[in-house]
Formats: sequence, C-alpha cells, structure tokens
Amino acid sequence: MAILKIARMGHPVLLQVAEPVADPTAPEIKRLIADMFETLDDIQGAGLAAPQVHVPLRLFIFRVLSTRAAGDPDDRPIGNTVVINPKLTFIGAQKQIGWEGCLSIPGIRAGVPRAWRIRYEGVDTDNQPVTGEVTGAHAAIVQHEYDHLDGVLYPMRMTDFSLFGFIEDLAKAGAPELSRARPLP
Ligand code: NI
Repeated sequence: MAILKIARMGHPVLLQVAEPVADPTAPEIKRLIADMFETLDDIQGAGLAAPQVHVPLRLFIFRVLSTRAAGDPDDRPIGNTVVINPKLTFIGAQKQIGWEGCLSIPGIRAGVPRAWRIRYEGVDTDNQPVTGEVTGAHAAIVQHEYDHLDGVLYPMRMTDFSLFGFIEDLAKAGAPELSRARPLP
C-alpha cells in the first residue's frame, strides 16, 4: 500500500481521455485501487479518479458521507465504492447545483451545475456489476469522477463564476447554501 501523488490542475494527464481497463481483475488494478483508497483516506476526500494519480485508465473510487447526502430516497450515504469502465446516463432534465471540491484543485470550492438524476454502470475488481440510479450528492460525485475519465475538470462545467472561491474565504464570508435540487435556467 502506498499514498499516491495527486496531479494538480495544469498537469496534462488531467486533460486526457482515459483508456478502458482491459482486465478489471488484474492484480495491478487491485493494487492501484487499494493505493487510491489509502490516498483518499489520507486526504479525507470523497472521490478519486485514476487519472488524478497519473494513471490514465477508466476507473474511479468514491463514497458519499451522511453529511453530504441530500436526504432524497435515491441519495443515501454509501461506503467505499469502486467503478471500473463506467457508463453514465443522465435521467430527466432536472439539474442541481452544489458545492464541489477536487483534490486536483486544492483549497478551492465552487458551485457546479450537474444533472439531478443519473444511472451508472460498471464493474468492480471481481468483474461484478456496480450500478446505481441515484440523485443529489451521490449523482454529483459520480458525474465529477466520471468527468475526470474524459479529461474534464469541474471549472469546465461551471456557469456562475461568482460561486468560485478559496475554502477559507468562502467560509469567512458565510458562503451561500446551494439547494441541491434547484432547476437551472
Ligand atoms: Ni476531482
């Protein structure tokens, strides 16, 4: 096990389209995922995609803490989850906006528009299906991590740059509460 170095915004690996994982059960994939969880625990993050640790493969890990879940029946807390070779489907037209951070953009938070409801499908390291139809924070985290596999960072999804700031200063200013189910114009 090892704590991995996280690529920061500006590093080209974060702008690459990642390659599918040929064999999700391969020992090197299990080792990579174990190291990614150790890295996520160390930095106390919500999610991490392989390109963020300089491995341009289509897999990510995440969890939804009870403090993040919106309380919607399809937005429940979930423990450590791995999704390899994911497919993502947007369901319906409802959007949300919520505060996001990214381990590759340290110290900053932003309000990022996302689809409210999505479905994701992938496999784990035993090649078993990992699927969910989810809303709210769970849906936002999966969209954020999935974007990393296509070389997309959250500022590229933003529409309102007044909701963009340093965590410390947003906290001092009493950053506005963002509704997680607010339809966007
Ligand atoms: Ni990120």
